[in-house]
Order: sequence, then C-alpha cells, then structure tokens
Amino acid sequence: MRVLVTGAAGFLGRTVATHLTQQGHDVVGFDLKDPGIDGLKMRIGDLTDLDQVSQAVEGRDAICHIGAIGDVYLAGEDPGLAAAVNVLGTANVAEAAVRHGARVVYASTWEVYGEPRYQPIDEGHPCAPDHPYNITKLAGESLLLSAARLRGLSAIALRLGTAYGPGLRPNSVFRIFIDRARRGEPITIQGDGTQGRQFTHSLDIARAFDAALRSDASGIALNTVAERMVTIRELAEMIVERFPTELTFGPPRPGDVPPATVSADRIAEVLGWRAEVPFEEGLADLIDHELAGG
Ligand SMILES: NC(=O)c1ccc[n+]([C@@H]2O[C@H](COP(=O)([O-])OP(=O)(O)OC[C@H]3O[C@@H](n4cnc5c(N)ncnc54)[C@H](O)[C@@H]3O)[C@@H](O)[C@H]2O)c1
Repeated sequence: MRVLVTGAAGFLGRTVATHLTQQGHDVVGFDLKDPGIDGLKMRIGDLTDLDQVSQAVEGRDAICHIGAIGDVYLAGEDPGLAAAVNVLGTANVAEAAVRHGARVVYASTWEVYGEPRYQPIDEGHPCAPDHPYNITKLAGESLLLSAARLRGLSAIALRLGTAYGPGLRPNSVFRIFIDRARRGEPITIQGDGTQGRQFTHSLDIARAFDAALRSDASGIALNTVAERMVTIRELAEMIVERFPTELTFGPPRPGDVPPATVSADRIAEVLGWRAEVPFEEGLADLIDHELAGG
C-alpha cells in the first residue's frame, strides 16, 4: 500500500515507517523535520495546515496518523499547542483522507479512559480523560471516528499502551533509569513503585499498524497493549540487576495516570494481533541500544 506516516521523525512514527517499509509498503513520512532515515521519503509539513496535509495525502492509500504532541508533560505545559496539533491536526488528517479516499489508522492512547471504573478496561469502558494530553488525544480520536460514521471515511483508532523501544524520548522513565544506573547514580522511583504499566514494545505497535492497514474494520477503537503488567519497581530492579546501583523513593509525579489493567482481547479478535516481544528481551535490547549510543 502507499502509506503516509505522520510523525515519522518521532519515536513511534519512525519505528512504524521503518517496519512498514520492510513489510513492502511504499512509505512517505510527514513531519515538521526530516529524521534522516536511509531510504525514507519525507514531506516536511505542519499538521495544523490543511493544505499541507491534503497535498501530502494525495495519491496515498492510507495514513498512519502518529504525529502529535505526544509528550504528556509538554501537553500539560502548553494545552493550546496540544489542542492545535492533536485536535485540529487530526481533523485535518480526517478531512484530507475523506477528500482523497485514504484509510486512516490513528495512534490513540489507553490513557483516554481516565480513572478506572472496572478492570480489565475494555473498549466499552467510559472515557473520562482529565489532562490536556489525553483530553486532546480523545478529541482527535472522536473527530476521526465521527468522520467514519458521518462521511464514509475508513478509519480505526489504536489505543496504544505506554510504549518502549529504541529511540524513545529522553524524559521517559526507561531512559532516565538506564542513564542514571549506567553512571552509578541512584535511581529514584516517584511514588511507591507499585504502579504498573502494560509496557508495549514499539515493534509490536508497528505490527499492529500493519495489521490495521490490511484490515477493513472501521469506526472502532481497539486497545493495543501488551498483556503483561510490569511495576515501576520491577523495571528499576531489572535495570539495577544489569547496572548495580541504589534504589530510592520520591514523591509521585503530577500528571501520572493511575495504574489500570487494560484488556487486549478485542484487537486479538478483530485484527489477530497480540504483543509478542517479551518484556525482558525488549528491555535488554533497549539497554544494548543505549550503550551503543542511542
Ligand atoms: N510513546 C508512547 O508511549 C505512546 C503511548 C500511547 C500513544 N502514543 C501516541 O503515539 C504518537 C507518537 O508518540 P511518540 O512517543 O512517538 O511521540 P514523539 O513526540 O516522539 O513524536 C511525535 C512526532 O510528531 C511530530 N509533530 C508534532 N507536531 C507536529 C505538527 N504540527 N506537524 C507535523 N508533525 C508534528 C513531532 O515532530 C514528532 O516527530 C502520539 O500520537 C502519541 O499520542 C504514544
């Protein structure tokens, strides 16, 4: 398929673009900047500019819409920017896709659910986001899926688990813990460390995008999370096993969503997708990558 990957200079965008190319798709990336990936054609543009988005979508069969203000802390500091990129930007992607008859696969997040009312959280769980990041991500998702209902757009949203893998942002807990432990500095766990996450490897996420592109399921959102729950304390202990150092505890970070178990049953039924990268292997690989210079 001829695919446009928005956010191709970012952590997940570049992983998805690279994987789709390896799977035989004809991929063009779209971002504010060129990541300089060998063999990846890029269009430089801004998601908030409909003309630029529409020109990039012309001639493409599908869009993996991954570009966003994906940094929760940045979205908290600048909600207007998060709204512009995550809401208006996604409305522009939906509009361009309707115009050019392209299918859209959207990078949503498990954080749209907010405070869990029951667990495991399935896709029927109410969404009550309470932070500029997840509020704007859900608004983008809702606009996109409304275009599927109202305008015949073929679109699906993947509510991704907290992702890890080579190239992740420097302010992620993985990078912070690994960097400190490598230098022999203590690792500080914010909170009591019992908070867990279904960390999902970027390669598994890339496989989910490929499966969603090939499917014609539309108008729905699917949880796209690894089944295994890993606590922050377990993560820190695995890193300390590799680079022995002291573990300390500090106050919780504001903006951290409460832990919740999320069901990945529906995506297994609809797309035949399950996360495959075992956590220990994914983490060891990430550490090797960091040691090799990121
Ligand atoms: N990383 C995670 O753990 C995670 C989890 C769930 C969902 N997601 C979603 O996945 C997507 C990608 O996340 P990420 O971690 O790769 O983020 P990232 O910040 O690494 O990448 C986002 C990319 O979007 C681009 N971008 C920002 N504003 C733009 C604009 N106006 N026009 C064009 N491009 C623009 C940035 O330049 C960047 O390359 C986001 O939509 C995020 O909400 C991420």
